[in-house]
Amino acid sequence: MIVNTARFVVSNTDYNKCPTEMRHEYAFIGRSNVGKSSLINMLTGHSGLAMTSATPGKTMLINHFLINDSWYIVDLPGYGYARRSKADRDRLEGIIKSYILGREQMTNLFVLIDSRHKPQKIDLEFMEWLGENGVPFSIVFTKMDKQSPTAGAKQTAEYCAQLLESWEELPPVFYTSSEDGRGRDALLNYIEEMNRLPLLDSEQ
Ligand code: GTP
Ligand code: MG
Repeated sequence: MIVNTARFVVSNTDYNKCPTEMRHEYAFIGRSNVGKSSLINMLTGHSGLAMTSATPGKTMLINHFLINDSWYIVDLPGYGYARRSKADRDRLEGIIKSYILGREQMTNLFVLIDSRHKPQKIDLEFMEWLGENGVPFSIVFTKMDKQSPTAGAKQTAEYCAQLLESWEELPPVFYTSSEDGRGRDALLNYIEEMNRLPLLDSEQ
């Protein structure tokens, strides 16, 4: 898929105030600093679209970006930033979880995992919560440029193997770098395929 246009539309804390049209929507989530905003900029080819920062905790709102005047990318706040107060963390968790459970238009959630890290409890618990709630999601390994191809392949294979110890099957998995553009075509093609599907499933 070619991204011709990408524009910021609105930021919200309450998913009820998000755009009301029924368009396919893909949200990006993961720990603070995992590279959500950078990945969105890489996918859209607009380096300043989503705000990025070397300091964790930059994104605090639900941010909607309209792509090709037809579908949305959503940048969500990161979870688990330890240096935030408990009250702030709880508030952000509330924003994130009510968006995920309440947003009918959300076709798929991309869960970002730093490709250098071993499985962390907070991510495993979050993905378990998604599974329990029937939320469609994919795994996106980020920052693949930060290690050698061999180390990256080994680290991510070990991550997936550990998931398969408790899961029957893996969701789709993507390998990306916002630095060198790795994984861009695979992700955009996947989104393009989902854009062709009817927006709501038969239960609705
Ligand atoms: P919050 O909004 O704070 O939750 O963070 P985020 O997940 O949106 O992360 P962000 O995109 O702001 O990136 C955090 C830091 O990681 C920045 O310094 C980025 O430049 C860096 N970074 C993100 N993706 C990559 C990548 O693929 N490769 C490299 N080398 N650095 C990256
Ligand atoms: Mg961000």
